[in-house]
Order: sequence, then C-alpha cells, then structure tokens
Amino acid sequence: EKGDFPHYMLKEIFEQPNSLRNAMRGRLSRDDGMAILGGLNMTPQELRGIDRIILSGCGTAFHAAMVGEYVIETLARVPTEVEIASEFRYRNVPADKNTLQFVLSQSGETIDTLAAMREARRKGIKCLGIVNSVGSTIARESDGGCYIHAGPEIGVAATKTFTSQVMIMNLLGMLFGRIHHLSTADGMEMIDEMEAIPDKIASILKQTDRIKAIAEKHANAEGMLFMGRQANYPVALEGALKMKEISYIYASGHPSAELKHGVIALVKPDMPSIFIAPDDAVFDKNVSNIEEVLARKGPVVCVTTEGRTELERLTEDVIYVPDCPSYLSPLLTVIPLQLLSYYTAVARGCDVDKPRNLAKSVTVE
Ligand code: F6R
Repeated sequence: EKGDFPHYMLKEIFEQPNSLRNAMRGRLSRDDGMAILGGLNMTPQELRGIDRIILSGCGTAFHAAMVGEYVIETLARVPTEVEIASEFRYRNVPADKNTLQFVLSQSGETIDTLAAMREARRKGIKCLGIVNSVGSTIARESDGGCYIHAGPEIGVAATKTFTSQVMIMNLLGMLFGRIHHLSTADGMEMIDEMEAIPDKIASILKQTDRIKAIAEKHANAEGMLFMGRQANYPVALEGALKMKEISYIYASGHPSAELKHGVIALVKPDMPSIFIAPDDAVFDKNVSNIEEVLARKGPVVCVTTEGRTELERLTEDVIYVPDCPSYLSPLLTVIPLQLLSYYTAVARGCDVDKPRNLAKSVTVE
C-alpha cells in the first residue's frame, strides 16, 4: 500500500532509513568490528584465498556494483572489477579458483544476470547472489549470498534497492578488509559510521520541499548532465538513469574531469549540470569544473556536504548532505538525485510508477 504517498516511488525513497537498517540488522558485530555474512557459505580461510572479485548486474544494480568496486578496493585492497551482466555472458573472462563473483539483482530473475552467473559457474567460478527477492532464481541457483532485505519494491525505478545493495558492498568491503589488514578498531569505527547513515538519510529527506523546487525550476530542460568522481561517478550514472527512466529527459552521467574531453560542448542554458561534489579529496577539482560550466552559461545544481557554503556563491541550487566517509558517500548523495528525478517527472506529468516501455523485471534477453 502507498499509504499517504502519491506514488510507490516516493514511498520507497522515504523507506530508505528503514530498509538500510534492515540490510545491516544482525550483520554487524561491534565487539570484533566485523561483518557477519553467514549466507556466503565460505570459511575465513576460503575468503582469504580470494584474490580477485567480479561484480555483475544490469541497470541500477550495475551502478551499485561500480560503487562496490571502489569500496572493496579501498577498504580491502582486493582487485575488483565490474562487468555489465549482458556483456559478461558473451565474454570469455579469465578466472581461476581464487576468483569470486557476486551478482547483484533486485528481482533475482533478470535473464542477463542469471546467464552471467550460469556462465561463471560453468567455468568453475564460485558465484554469490546479492538479491532482494527471496527464493528467486538467482537466490536458488547461486552458491550462496546475501539478501538485501529491502522489502517489496513496486515502483519500476529502483531506489531503495540501490542503497541496500551499496550497503552490502560496504559490509563486504569491511569483511574482506578485516580478514586482511584492517584492525578491530578500524572495523568498530566503520560500524559506527554505517549505523549513523539511516538518520543522516532521514535528515536529507527533510529537505524534500527544497529539492522539489529545484526540480520544478529545471523541469523543462532539454537534457541534463550528471557529474561526479570516485564513488560518486556511479551515482552520477544512477542519477542520469533515474532522470531518463521516469521524466524522459535525456541525461548522461560522466566523471567530472571528462567534461573538457567532449561533454562541455553540450553545455548551454537549457542543459543543467548536476554536480555531486561532497567535501572530499577532489572537492576543489569539482569546483573548477563547476566554474567551467558556469562560464559557458550552463545552470548548475550541486549536491555537497553541509558546511561547504562557498558553493552558494556560484549557484543558488545547492543541496546539502551530512558528512560521512567517502566509501559511504553514495548512500547520501543519491537521495537528492532520486528526489530530483521524481519531482521532475511529476512536474512533467509522467506516470512515475509505470514509465513507458519499461518492466520491473526483464526476463527476456
Ligand atoms: C532502474 C531499473 C533497472 C534495473 C535492472 C536490473 O531503475 O530498475 O535498470 O535495475 O533491470 O534489475 P534487477 O536488479 O531486478 O536485476
């Protein structure tokens, strides 16, 4: 039931503080600063033998996997690569017994993701599922895995399942980090940061009216560019995908620094750029890119960290998210982008929960 919400998508966006608590429940051991993921069906010895991780999925799940690559390599230093499931199935990826594949899927039924898993298992690669739908085909056929426990997602556009998948990527990063080089104290600190995320999301959701006003202001745009770096580059891709899917505005996501390698040619007054520029190591680099866009009369919307008020000198459309470590940042920065696409679609009169030409689960190739 939608309850007080006009659409399932909005309801599901607002469920995220809770769905993330459910993703973490029973999986964080404060005493030893460790993640507990029993469903992986692997001993610490087996996990320590893994020297390469492959993450696969489609659409939004692929974007969560891209965040996973950043998070797992940063926290655990295990070489990780992401393959779009539909491409993986037709590639002949070299792998051996020390390679571990994770497939990410909300429905657990996406044919390309299923085929990627079957192909990997045929080659003897162990494959674990990160799935929402309990008892789905991927959940049944995989060698184990981890449910995200986000609850049913009815809106065709994936929202809460993205953040839950990203949270599981963080649990995996912590788990692999802890069996290698991270200390108990490192793990305990990470648990504190993870457990603080749901309340931080709740505080972003309180700014919904402001985000709605920004969305309405740009709702007649011809197109939109989404820019981010590091773990927020996949968030830029996800923001652009949401915008395309439900508002039908053409949008594309890019690493901010790629701007001058071509994308800047698109900048003009009815082509806003949405920058994800939190207070991190590349903040100043993002600011220079923002200035380049403004110099060419492109409107800019910024998602940044509370306290970085200097961006208000550049644009009036600044959305603040609370501070957090960079590996958790996508969990916060994606929220304003979900709301931005939702209110843009509503302003344009689109059928938000059932966008044209799309199905919730894609079971044909
Ligand atoms: C985006 C969206 C799709 C799915 C993709 C994978 O909002 O819903 O891009 O993310 O079709 O679906 P699952 O996760 O069910 O495998």
